[in-house]
Amino acid sequence: MTITIPANLAANTAASATALVEKAANAPKAELHIHIEGSLEPELIFALAQRNNVKLAYDSIDALRAAYAFTDLQSFLDIYYAGASVLLTEQDFYDMTMAYCERALADNVVHTEIFFDPQTHTERGVPIETVVAGIDRALADAEKRGLSSKLILCFLRHLSESDALATFDAAQPLFARYARLIGVGLDSSERGHPPSKFERVFEKARALGLKLVAHAGEEGPPSYIYEALDLLKVDRVDHGVRSIEDPALVTRLADTRVALTVCPLSNTKLCVFDDMTQHTLKALLDKGVAVTVNSDDPAYFGGYVNENYRAIIEALKLDDGEVYTILRNGFEASFVTPEERAALIAKLDANWNRATA
Ligand code: ADE
Ligand code: ZN
Repeated sequence: MTITIPANLAANTAASATALVEKAANAPKAELHIHIEGSLEPELIFALAQRNNVKLAYDSIDALRAAYAFTDLQSFLDIYYAGASVLLTEQDFYDMTMAYCERALADNVVHTEIFFDPQTHTERGVPIETVVAGIDRALADAEKRGLSSKLILCFLRHLSESDALATFDAAQPLFARYARLIGVGLDSSERGHPPSKFERVFEKARALGLKLVAHAGEEGPPSYIYEALDLLKVDRVDHGVRSIEDPALVTRLADTRVALTVCPLSNTKLCVFDDMTQHTLKALLDKGVAVTVNSDDPAYFGGYVNENYRAIIEALKLDDGEVYTILRNGFEASFVTPEERAALIAKLDANWNRATA
């Protein structure tokens, strides 16, 4: 049987989705999954390449952008690491971070928790102190404009455990020096590099009282999410969208309220899902999982955080209550103090209840 939706009802539904997209865009929000190197727009890559005399494999901005046709995570990472090769000085890291902060502020992000990949830079001879100093200085400036932030150091999982341990040792003084640097994470090529490979370095980070996150279940199987929870003892799981394949895991995530930092545009760009209507975000939300929405690598995936909200509201036909829950989850799952969390949620509530959709 085919059901025909009356034209006026269909038009109404489209109009209410548009209003909800706008309401979500205007709402104060948190972003909990953004790789700062993934915010490097092609224009800035070329400007920094020129400033630093770095030779790129692409001879124009358009040629670089044309290469952003990814088939999986690895095909993206190859270009992402090439893009990051233009970053050399403290000012470069400042400029990249400030450009992201401008975009985040324009999307009404009021709190952001930013990943950075020190090994991508130290292996090119850039000291880790230079990386953190430039990022932190920009975040301090953005804080004066209403964007609070935390910083999370990610280990590259395609490199060895001993490389991660050495990176952690080199970063130890920075954890003491920079109040914003509060945690460690795990990113890069997931398949073949399970969380278990990094159990010891995460144990050391936990002993220092750092927050712990890991990419798991983006391309990798649910067993990687179990490893992130049981071996790394993470506070949040980055992506985690493949958890839907294991009902017991979904129940566990829902019961423990371990949040997933989901990145919808990333998942479709990297072919985790064929298209946005296939995304598991709503199914996970329906089962009580603390899902959040984030941009991952916005310069590469076609949009900052508000574009991610737009994509799921339209494709998954989310309603007002579901969007509010996702926005609130962002604050609930953030690594702020209980007082800061209460203030952020009060700000969201005041905005959401005032707005119409
Ligand atoms: N590094 C930058 N973006 C990433 C992603 N989506 N998955 C794993 N590592 C990454
Ligand atoms: Zn990521």
